[in-house]
Amino acid sequence: MEKTDLIKTQVRAYDSITLTKNEMSNTMKAVQINEFGDRSVLKLNDDVPVFVPTSKEVLIKVKSASVNPVDWKIREGYLQPMLNHPLPLTLGWDVSGEVTEVGDQVSHLKVGDEVYSRPDIAKNGSYAEFITVVADEVAIKPKSLSWQEAAGVPLAALTAWQSLYEFAKLKEGERVLVHAGSGAVGQFAIQLAKIRGAYVYTTTSSKNTDLVLGLGADEAIDYKNEDFSELRDIDVVFDTIGGDTQANSWKTLKKGGRLVSITENPDEAIATNHGATGFFCFVQPNREQLEKLAEFADAGKLKVSIDSEFGLDQVADAHERSETGRAQGKIIINIS
Ligand SMILES: NC(=O)c1ccc[n+]([C@@H]2O[C@H](COP(=O)([O-])OP(=O)(O)OC[C@H]3O[C@@H](n4cnc5c(N)ncnc54)[C@H](OP(=O)(O)O)[C@@H]3O)[C@@H](O)[C@H]2O)c1
Repeated sequence: MEKTDLIKTQVRAYDSITLTKNEMSNTMKAVQINEFGDRSVLKLNDDVPVFVPTSKEVLIKVKSASVNPVDWKIREGYLQPMLNHPLPLTLGWDVSGEVTEVGDQVSHLKVGDEVYSRPDIAKNGSYAEFITVVADEVAIKPKSLSWQEAAGVPLAALTAWQSLYEFAKLKEGERVLVHAGSGAVGQFAIQLAKIRGAYVYTTTSSKNTDLVLGLGADEAIDYKNEDFSELRDIDVVFDTIGGDTQANSWKTLKKGGRLVSITENPDEAIATNHGATGFFCFVQPNREQLEKLAEFADAGKLKVSIDSEFGLDQVADAHERSETGRAQGKIIINIS
């Protein structure tokens, strides 16, 4: 066996997340954490292994990544009880980029394909020059979107898709209340609800009213000066905030209504008291849904707002922006 093949075989024998420097084939720059904590734990390392894709994976040269609140929640260690990440860990679970290597069992992708993905959150992420991703989690990127816009789609748009279409089973003509319509998930939720033919109310602060109406929301409710809980006969509430926002949402629902939260597990007894059903959605990778989202984007039905852009050496600043809770769309990391 050639020495390079031998190295590749050895490298494939390891779970990519636990590879050590001795098994690497090449190195790259990546933003990693070696401990959980505040923004100071983010380190830009230049000797991180470039993993060799297994037979069902592809290697992607990352063009852009995006920041989601889950990135800094993981950085802080809040999700360790659930995810149990080994360290060091590369953060970032949105990617757009170009396929540079393909596992031998991958049939729908080839070298040179321009792709996007929300990779498995249990593995190393995309704040890196390269990432290996299971091919079934990777789709061809929307042709009409820039690398930055494409990187902003997967995690937030899949969350909105799975919450509204899979959990709530939103139907044409229904009335949906989307909380935080100006946030990354909220913006996709407004647009997916309109594509489904629903009537959309959304909470927002007054500075973002034009933004949410421009995305197709039928009515904007200024959450700082108006009381959304006076709404009635809502079919579906999409809760992206939790706490009092969730608690005050139940009475807006009609009997048989559905509330889907992505921040806090709805209390079953409270849901039953209101004659409603509550769901919690934790987004999952999904290639077919990414393909449909790409169709929507290329048909001009799905827009991506960019809040801000940063370099790989500015991830701490990007996290600071996300942690304000005031972003008006996607926060992008430009990598190559
Ligand atoms: N379970 C899952 O799978 C999943 C997936 C994705 C996200 N999430 C979670 O969902 C939440 C939202 O994520 P995201 O990416 O959309 O966040 P984001 O983009 O950071 O949201 C920021 C937006 O929220 C708005 N906002 C803040 N408080 C509000 C309130 N009380 N009412 C209405 N709008 C409010 C802000 O507008 P103003 O400046 O006008 O207030 C801002 O535009 C995060 O907690 C995230 O971790 C969960």
